[in-house]
Amino acid sequence: MIVKDKILEVKNLTHYYGEQVGCEDISFDLYQGEILGIVGESGSGKSTLLKCLSGQISPSQGMINFCIDKSQPLQDLCKISEQKKRSLMRKEWGIVQQNPRDGLRLRVSAGGNIAERIINEEIKNYSKIRNKALEWMDKTEMEKSRIDDFPVNFSGGMQQRLQISKILSSNPKLVYMDEPTGGLDVSVQAKLLDTITIIVRDLNVSMIIVSHDLAVVKFLTDKLLVMKSGKVVESGLTDRVLDDPQHSYTQLLTSSILQV
Ligand SMILES: Nc1ncnc2c1ncn2[C@@H]1O[C@H](COP(=O)(O)OP(=O)(O)OP(=O)(O)O)[C@@H](O)[C@H]1O
Ligand SMILES: [Mg+2]
Repeated sequence: MIVKDKILEVKNLTHYYGEQVGCEDISFDLYQGEILGIVGESGSGKSTLLKCLSGQISPSQGMINFCIDKSQPLQDLCKISEQKKRSLMRKEWGIVQQNPRDGLRLRVSAGGNIAERIINEEIKNYSKIRNKALEWMDKTEMEKSRIDDFPVNFSGGMQQRLQISKILSSNPKLVYMDEPTGGLDVSVQAKLLDTITIIVRDLNVSMIIVSHDLAVVKFLTDKLLVMKSGKVVESGLTDRVLDDPQHSYTQLLTSSILQV
């Protein structure tokens, strides 16, 4: 039996915005190579949970333990320094924003955007960096001839492909995606999801993806959290949750969305 490494352990995670519940009492584990989906209606706390997990906001209560080094015990995200957190965000984690404009520098060339993520001690050489950027543009099915163009002139779908290239090029251990295809045309969404699936499976990266689209999570994820009013109302293997939903809210979601 293959024993997979646990890379994230979340316990009773809660975040309040003043009196307002953002997310409440959330617990789950994530293992190497797993893709976890988070679904739920608007305002159910999906983005709040993702922001806590990726260190963008601090939880009000609970613990987020994650693996920095396989030979070490898991570490508590709330206890590490800001500097270490920033370094994790730059190298170990990839955060794909819902709006690609939030994750890109629009007036820096496409190649420059990717280069920012991959310049490090090992790769300093200009032509190596450019080649790596080209390789990633190719993987995400962008036209390589656009490497020197500014993303401000790209379509939404192309900007999202560039953001994904940029984030995955640094080989992150854990990728967070918040509605990566949310603002795009349906035909562009499907194609982009195909690309994301192929790349992510190939990299054996672990990923948490937020979506309110059950067709997306059915296609892409191994495990699922169903959220309502800040809480997880149902969780489990994606196929089990969608094919045999136990909670009345999940039953409502599956009957209203999947069977149209
Ligand atoms: N910055 C904020 N200040 C106060 N309340 C907030 C803030 N951000 C979110 N909330 C509230 O927290 C709850 C969860 O919001 P969140 O954005 O996490 O939901 P969501 O599931 O991501 O929704 P959507 O599908 O619309 O993106 C909602 O009630 C929302 O109004
Ligand atoms: Mg959201």
